[in-house]
Amino acid sequence: MCGIVGYIGFKDGLDVKEILLTGLEKLEYRGYDSAGICIYNDGVKIFKDEGRVAHLRQLVDMDVPSNLGIGHTRWATHGIPSQRNSHPHQCHTGRFTVVHNGVIENEIELREQYLEDYDFISDTDTEIIAALIEKFVAQGESASLAIRHVMGLLEGSYALGIMDAATPDKFYAAKNKSPLLVGVGKNFNMIGSDAMSIIKYTDEFIELHDEEFIVLSANEVAIYSILGTRVDRLSYKETLDASDTEKGVYPYYMLKEIDEQPFAIRRIVAEYFTENTYNINPEIVESLANTDRIYIVAAGTSMNAGFVGKQLFESIANIPTEVHIASEFVYNTPLISKRPLFIFLSQSGETADSRAVLVKIKKLGYKSLTITNVKGSTLSREADYTLLLYAGVEIAVASTKAYTSQIAVMAILAANEANWDAKVLKKELALIANVIESITDNKLLFKELADKYLIKRNCFYIGRHIDYYVAIEASLKLKEISYIQTEGFAAGELKHGTIALIENGTPVIAVISQENINLNTRSNIKEVKSRGAETIVISLKSLSAATDQIVIDDVFPVLAPLVTIVPTQLLAYYAALGRGLDIDKPRNLAKSVTVE
Ligand code: F6R
Repeated sequence: MCGIVGYIGFKDGLDVKEILLTGLEKLEYRGYDSAGICIYNDGVKIFKDEGRVAHLRQLVDMDVPSNLGIGHTRWATHGIPSQRNSHPHQCHTGRFTVVHNGVIENEIELREQYLEDYDFISDTDTEIIAALIEKFVAQGESASLAIRHVMGLLEGSYALGIMDAATPDKFYAAKNKSPLLVGVGKNFNMIGSDAMSIIKYTDEFIELHDEEFIVLSANEVAIYSILGTRVDRLSYKETLDASDTEKGVYPYYMLKEIDEQPFAIRRIVAEYFTENTYNINPEIVESLANTDRIYIVAAGTSMNAGFVGKQLFESIANIPTEVHIASEFVYNTPLISKRPLFIFLSQSGETADSRAVLVKIKKLGYKSLTITNVKGSTLSREADYTLLLYAGVEIAVASTKAYTSQIAVMAILAANEANWDAKVLKKELALIANVIESITDNKLLFKELADKYLIKRNCFYIGRHIDYYVAIEASLKLKEISYIQTEGFAAGELKHGTIALIENGTPVIAVISQENINLNTRSNIKEVKSRGAETIVISLKSLSAATDQIVIDDVFPVLAPLVTIVPTQLLAYYAALGRGLDIDKPRNLAKSVTVE
């Protein structure tokens, strides 16, 4: 959601406009509806509009040289996507220009208290930031003091890039709750919402903390607390390879990421096992051993992985486990056990809903573990412990390899707790990687099934036991990229109401991976078939029937979601492809949901 890049300096004759536009292209995956940049060349020049970065590229006057600029992709929160509401925004005098990621929750109060007579150009909350800085500078404050003054007034989340036309030898940044990183270069410095937007130019980064204010010039990065105290922080080397962020031969990142799942599982095996034993931070092992109840908190696909995690922790490790929707936890807070362990599952590590829960449970003094794909992300930094997924960058909005990686990591944690023989699990995960490969090698099957069946307005996934959780995730995948209204149901629940929606041609996809539910789920398939449904069955080989269209080699039943989800990812992909949709950037969605 929203992306920011900013640059000042003189890197090998590179032009700031190209750096900003390329950076914004790297941030496209986060989801956005408008884009803009401003550069300094004897005054501030702004180019912005609703639409894609490719459209912005056509608007930018590439002939104007510059060595200072900030850029932004906007995901509308205050005001419709339009040229007027696109960032950057300026104050009336044009001295201060601002890009902003986040939401200012007290914008109405600030307007009433400080800016009653101000004539706003846009509907955004961002414009008040530019206006307030201008106001405080007019009252005699320096630009730095005015920005910190405004930071102190803002409630909500912000990552800011701010240019002051009066001092084009530097620019400012600030952060609270929304992600922002500094990239340190030789003769240049940058800010970006993530490492991918910067890595092409430097691999040296400085992480920023909440309520920090940063002054960047070509040769210096100075970090201050909101009160103006200088903060010393060492930089670190980011290991992300610039080529990881390319599509390569693939038409879409989603297909590439589906295909990367076997590598991701093998990498997890390499990281979390030694030759014959588990390799997990002993403090995490101890926290799990001491807990009387796990609370998994997550959103979307990560939450769906959490449901599978619940099965794993309960059936393998015997630890009672609850799964909570992050955005509901704050209101529907459950009764907490005596020795809880909170597990935050998050691909991005930046999801604002999950972070709000982390802040809350930290105040209550509870222990937390974040399982994430992004090293140094907010949830990772703020939890007591982190386990990384090592899945490689996930760019498609629809999460695939992060889901399977989260399940694999939780399986290893549960198995270690239950003293499973590490060699056995290691071997099984290696087998699972091969089984996934055999599924992804057979893409034509999924294309044909999607072209034949997934052409209706509605669709249902059904399953029982652990297959029900796969059905929920499978339905999310299909609906979010193909826009087919899809629901995942516990197969036994259909006849309690939802079966009324089945009509001639409605696709119903069943998942069967557990012996004890095979016959019952097959009865449900017959029930919907006799009411006109077109059915597709995904089954493990030992449970399969001759008519099942998708048969997968057997794996340990408790780990079946790692393989049964893959056909559903491919079905979603080909359903969206058949409809000619923008698979990696589905409408209205953002990859990193940084507002609550
Ligand atoms: C769906 C999807 C989302 C995310 C959710 C949480 O494909 O990707 O549902 O799973 O927004 O994001 P993370 O995992 O980054 O916390």
